[in-house]
Amino acid sequence: MISGTLFMLVLLCGVEAGHAGKVLVLPGEYSHWHNMRAIIDALVDRNHSVTVLVSSSSPTVQHTRKERFDFIVYKVNMTKEEANSVLRDMIHLGTNDTANKYKGDFMVWRVFSNFMAFLTDISKGMFHEDLLHTLRESHYDVLLSDPMMLFPDLMAEKLNIPHVLSMRATFAYVAEQLCGQMPAPPSYVPAVALHDHLTDHMSFIERVENMLLYIIHTTIFPLGLKFTIDKLYTEISGKPTTMCETMGKADIWLIRTYWDYEYPRPIMPNFKFVGGLQCKPAKPLSKDLEEFVQSSGDHGIIVFSLGSMLGNLTLERANTIASALGQMPQKVVWRYNGKTPETLAPNTKLCDWIPQNDLLGHPKTKAFITHGGTNGLYEAIYHGVPMVGLPLWGDQPDNLLHMKTKGAAVVLDISSIQSKDLVDALKTVINNPSYKESIMRLSRIHHDQPMKPLDRAVYWIEFVMRHKGAKHLRVQAHDLSWTLYPPIHRGHLRFSGTQR
Ligand SMILES: *[C@@H]1O[C@H](CO)[C@@H](O)[C@H](O)[C@H]1NC(C)=O
Ligand SMILES: *[C@@H]1O[C@H](CO)[C@@H](O)[C@H](O)[C@H]1NC(C)=O
Ligand SMILES: *[C@@H]1O[C@H](CO)[C@@H](O)[C@H](O)[C@H]1NC(C)=O
Ligand SMILES: *[C@@H]1O[C@H](CO)[C@@H](O)[C@H](O)[C@H]1NC(C)=O
Repeated sequence: MISGTLFMLVLLCGVEAGHAGKVLVLPGEYSHWHNMRAIIDALVDRNHSVTVLVSSSSPTVQHTRKERFDFIVYKVNMTKEEANSVLRDMIHLGTNDTANKYKGDFMVWRVFSNFMAFLTDISKGMFHEDLLHTLRESHYDVLLSDPMMLFPDLMAEKLNIPHVLSMRATFAYVAEQLCGQMPAPPSYVPAVALHDHLTDHMSFIERVENMLLYIIHTTIFPLGLKFTIDKLYTEISGKPTTMCETMGKADIWLIRTYWDYEYPRPIMPNFKFVGGLQCKPAKPLSKDLEEFVQSSGDHGIIVFSLGSMLGNLTLERANTIASALGQMPQKVVWRYNGKTPETLAPNTKLCDWIPQNDLLGHPKTKAFITHGGTNGLYEAIYHGVPMVGLPLWGDQPDNLLHMKTKGAAVVLDISSIQSKDLVDALKTVINNPSYKESIMRLSRIHHDQPMKPLDRAVYWIEFVMRHKGAKHLRVQAHDLSWTLYPPIHRGHLRFSGTQR
């Protein structure tokens, strides 16, 4: 049954399933996987049997480790390193990282064609008949996925099981609008964009800009997919289809934010907000780290991390930052694994890895310097720590803009800051009480919910298993053609906030 091209590694663990359900998980990579882990752990705690389906090239998922859940690994041609490089280029597209690598070499085209080769490789492994047969025999109750990695929706269709997806907002809400039918009135719902400056309070000019962003994104996105990813979807599913159509069949969308972060806006009945689901009370620090933190006295500490994908700055940037940190009376714990900056001061401790949640929850923590990834941002909201943002790419500028407009962060441009800018920003968020008050207000909103975000995620996954889907929450708009439900109605395009 298992052919030569497909090697499968099934690690069976001792979890007795009882009456609980069977969950198939198609994870995302990098921080997305760490977020998904929190849901998986909660499902396992509730006695569900969880199987993670992952390719042999996954850069993040350590499928040889013994876990409380099973792995099914399908073989693909690419190595871990190749897949990692393709994915990072795709994520960093438009940043100097990629620009330097493909200097003058049709960068976008190169990156995208590598990504298509990666997807083709993945799809061959994932939709191999033998694997599909094995998965069908297992009779899963639900498929939980992160659409960062493509095709989970097609897999749910092939296995004929309900689908719960877990995601963070996409640019200009293209996936939510076009695939999920979420209305996004451009008069007050700002498009998520690169290097963003739009909030829910826009001037006339900004509304025009916002509408143009929506029009451009929602036109380019389907066009860009038509001859690439949609073709793969059609090929795999064996009938004409698109990524959006398939994704739109998802039963529940678990969105990784909440109203502490979002500007108020319309949503769909099958969109559930679970931002901060990975947050937990802080655990005690290791003896070493606790001693360092205590040595800061009344000044307290600053926690500094630019996330798992960038431990490495240019030495020049690292020197600028280190010399700023040295001017602070606080002690600093900096997650950093590049070359030690010459300007590093004795108040700063460099660590390859930090227990970020435990540090942010420590009573001595005064500020958090962050790139603005959703996970870290939610840990800061959870524990009420004001932020200095150094956004790098993707949704990070937008994430930090939300925190800035809510009065909980100062945002700087890492490529151009001088030491003084960072010192000023840190002094502002630490010494001006309005920053602490703002983040505490968000924190109180976050903690005062009828159900914890993680419990809500688990509830809806179990709901979908109990009821074999959640089609009663799916709006009819999915089945209306563009003539019956024109795009103008989908967005309620309207410039002025005062007209009705
Ligand atoms: C899981 O199973 C154990 C052992 O059978 C049982 O004691 C526990 O109550 C179950 N937990 C849930 C949430 O059902
Ligand atoms: C993987 O490699 C084999 C052998 O070189 C080749 O036949 C196959 O087409 C490759 N698959 C993909 C998806 O590139
Ligand atoms: C850090 O960056 C330098 C130069 O940009 C590069 O040569 C080096 O490989 C990087 N190191 C790591 C660990 O990413
Ligand atoms: C990218 O590189 C160019 C030239 O090398 C430089 O001017 C620019 O500031 C860099 N941008 C970032 C974000 O580092």
